[in-house]
Amino acid sequence: MSNTKPIRRIAIIGTGVIGASWASLFLAKGLQVVATDPAPNAEASLRKFVETAWPALKRLGLSAGASQSNLKFTTDLAEALTGVDLVQENGPERIDFKQKLYGQLDELLPAEVIIASSSSGLTMSEIQKGAAAHPERCVIGHPFNPPHLIPLTEIVGGAKTSEATIQRAAEFYTSIGQKTVRVNKEMPGHVANRLQAALGREVYYLVAEGIVSAADVDTALSWGPGLRWGIMGNMMLNHLGGGSGGIEHFFQQFAGPMTAWWKTLGSPVLSPEVQKKLIDSVHAEVGSRSVQELEHARDEILLGLIELRKRSETVAQREVAAE
Ligand SMILES: NC(=O)c1ccc[n+]([C@@H]2O[C@H](COP(=O)([O-])OP(=O)(O)OC[C@H]3O[C@@H](n4cnc5c(N)ncnc54)[C@H](O)[C@@H]3O)[C@@H](O)[C@H]2O)c1
Repeated sequence: MSNTKPIRRIAIIGTGVIGASWASLFLAKGLQVVATDPAPNAEASLRKFVETAWPALKRLGLSAGASQSNLKFTTDLAEALTGVDLVQENGPERIDFKQKLYGQLDELLPAEVIIASSSSGLTMSEIQKGAAAHPERCVIGHPFNPPHLIPLTEIVGGAKTSEATIQRAAEFYTSIGQKTVRVNKEMPGHVANRLQAALGREVYYLVAEGIVSAADVDTALSWGPGLRWGIMGNMMLNHLGGGSGGIEHFFQQFAGPMTAWWKTLGSPVLSPEVQKKLIDSVHAEVGSRSVQELEHARDEILLGLIELRKRSETVAQREVAAE
């Protein structure tokens, strides 16, 4: 595939939790969006979602031409696909559903149009079996919820995905401000969710064993390593952890103790009794605060952090340009 046509018009298939958020982001980046979803009230819910998300997107910076009026909705799949440059598929997470849908998309779309799936748990090798004619244009473009705020997209191809598709998808997501991660080999859960799963397992273990309360484990995480992880990842932080000796010194010092701790990490069974213990501990942490209140507090700080990181990136880019 040697298509270099700019990606300007996107079809959103499925406008649930993820599709609505992608649609909001694409609109904020000045793109044309045509959405489709057979659910009753899908159009009204989507427009409401975009309207609610817009102030945050405005705060993060709208691109030239960005407008909610660039959103079209149709329940007709063929109409939704007419003239699009890329499809972002966000349908239900079922392999039978996705394979059938990819068969329809493959028949209706010109060969050069990329079909990107948001799937968290299915592999593209399985999904693209439905697209008999052009499986090479199918790729996973996995966001982190909600994609209109969290600028991370994991990209991974299936057995039949072409390198050109992977590169073009990466260029597209990067062009709209996403940080892209190229996953070289299909793995259940890709990468970011596996990292969460690894940590979550130990969190549940520590609370279930009564070693720490939900409130204290959340404090330990969000005011300790989590604060640093909002800026740099594990590998870079290890390099700093080694002081002026860097990552080499870090391993000299910590490879022994760290691998000894690994042997004591837990593998909790989430039985009904263990779940009740975890749930009770979370409610003690939450107190009388509503989910909406907590979401608002989270999103305010998140927006501030994203703005800060964007500003520091711009300064760093200016410094590099001035050198
Ligand atoms: N929810 C998350 O946190 C999350 C994060 C990243 C990726 N994902 C992935 O995104 C995808 C969607 O997940 P979700 O959480 O938005 O699910 P969801 O249930 O909220 O949305 C799925 C939507 O697909 C619609 N749909 C059903 N049949 C359809 C059809 N034939 N054509 C078009 N739309 C149809 C449904 O009406 C529904 O609105 C999944 O593949 C999931 O793995 C989800």
